[in-house]
Amino acid sequence: MTTLKLARTASARAAVVATLVPSDQLRSSGVDKRLLTRLRFEGKPGQTATVTGESPAVHLLVGVGPSLEVDTTGVRKAVAAAVRALSSDKTVVIDLSLIDLSLSDADLTADDLAQAAAEGAGLAAYRFDRYKAENDDPRLETATLVVAGGGKDGFARGLAIVDAVNFARDLVNEPGGTLTPTRFADLAAERAGDAGLTVEVLGPDEIEEGALGGLLSVNRGSEQEARFVKLTYTPSDEAAAARDSVALVGKGITFDSGGLSIKPADGMMTMKCDMGGAAAVIATMCALPALRVGVPVTSYTPMTDNMTGGDATRPGDVMTARNGKTVEILNTDAEGRLVLADALSLASEDGHSAIVDLATLTGACMVALGDQIAGLMGNDDELIGEIEAAAETSGEKFWHLPLPPEYRKMLDSPIADMKNIGSRYGGALTAGLFLQEFVSDDISWAHLDIAGPAFTEAADGEIPRGGTGFAVRTLLAWLEARAAEAELDEESDAADEPDAD
Ligand code: BES
Ligand code: MN
Ligand code: ZN
Repeated sequence: MTTLKLARTASARAAVVATLVPSDQLRSSGVDKRLLTRLRFEGKPGQTATVTGESPAVHLLVGVGPSLEVDTTGVRKAVAAAVRALSSDKTVVIDLSLIDLSLSDADLTADDLAQAAAEGAGLAAYRFDRYKAENDDPRLETATLVVAGGGKDGFARGLAIVDAVNFARDLVNEPGGTLTPTRFADLAAERAGDAGLTVEVLGPDEIEEGALGGLLSVNRGSEQEARFVKLTYTPSDEAAAARDSVALVGKGITFDSGGLSIKPADGMMTMKCDMGGAAAVIATMCALPALRVGVPVTSYTPMTDNMTGGDATRPGDVMTARNGKTVEILNTDAEGRLVLADALSLASEDGHSAIVDLATLTGACMVALGDQIAGLMGNDDELIGEIEAAAETSGEKFWHLPLPPEYRKMLDSPIADMKNIGSRYGGALTAGLFLQEFVSDDISWAHLDIAGPAFTEAADGEIPRGGTGFAVRTLLAWLEARAAEAELDEESDAADEPDAD
């Protein structure tokens, strides 16, 4: 683990320094102008140049573009680039003091800057190396972030967010053979308990009693017991605890072989990532107390693997979901929607004001949007807008896809209420339409198909190879914005009271 520190000024003795350089501050970079010209360094976003000398011995310049255009996404990326470039040094200083916030258009504070820097550094320094026998790779031990204006609170927030994202990454990177549903539930319960959340874990008997037919049908082919984890966060602030609650739902397939509709070998190689939705939801929940988020949140995460055992669900089998609807299972590889069906029903029953589900749901969404953009669907454009705004803050990318009512008939079954697959095209949308059948119409609902961005083969910026922890940052930003909105409403309501003074 890399330790991050915050300082107001850079130590003159630091041997390895990275400086974030706005393109209009080249003269303050401490590097001779002619040398900069020779290195063709102009301070463009993402541009880097290395200067070696006496003090510092290594000086990395990272461009961030014109001061006017500096924003948190650019800072996060620049700091991540610095950490990546200097990852084999033990101690580095990352100097952000050339960024003059009064010149930026983005209305940034020192806290915003420190938060973005902590995120960029902590996320880029992540490694999953617990299975490497020899761990003598040079590693970055300490990075000191220099923010002239202070930014202590923002820095602490950044650290909490890094912790959450890296926890989700650890869960996703853990192989399906060791991260069984039982182990997944245990790890979630332990961390959530430590964070002060209320923890409920349903085992096979409770899942049976709860009539979670979707989860049971997927679990039939497995030697592993299923689990269903429910976590509840109640803000410590009384006014915040009284606000409308929201639900987070996450797909927790610890390994997806496809079941009897088995996947080809190539398609199975990364399928330990199929619990990425549940991992992001659980990691988000565990960060809420530290961030003192002002809105009550409950999470619902069904956990099982999807295997081919002797009593596995057969194509053509019919199951009854929690809400009583029957589903003809024609492809056992469309299993995510089955376990989510029950979770969405439970969340709907609990009467939240909004439900957001996250799932590595369809290859079709990856075909449509590639591996860096998640699909965003739902029944309420206002909620979609909230998530898009949160993504703007977090730097994660979503694209709004439709849920066309005309496509619902693709899910019609001759023998049951519906089947679990549509026709050949529009697979991300028919999956979304399937989920919609299990959400109360009067609850705002958004569905995030994170099949692409949950796992990546190529590291980029603050995103490492493997599990990415995608959506944790957007969910946290969304919940915080919702709390802020509720607080504003309460203030204006109080001001409207006739007898208020
Ligand atoms: N877990 C997969 C989707 C997936 C694919 C996630 C690639 C990440 C990367 C899901 O369970 C699945 O197999 N979906 C099928 C649905 C189809 C059978 C209707 C798919 O997309 O092929
Ligand atoms: Mn599948
Ligand atoms: Zn799956």
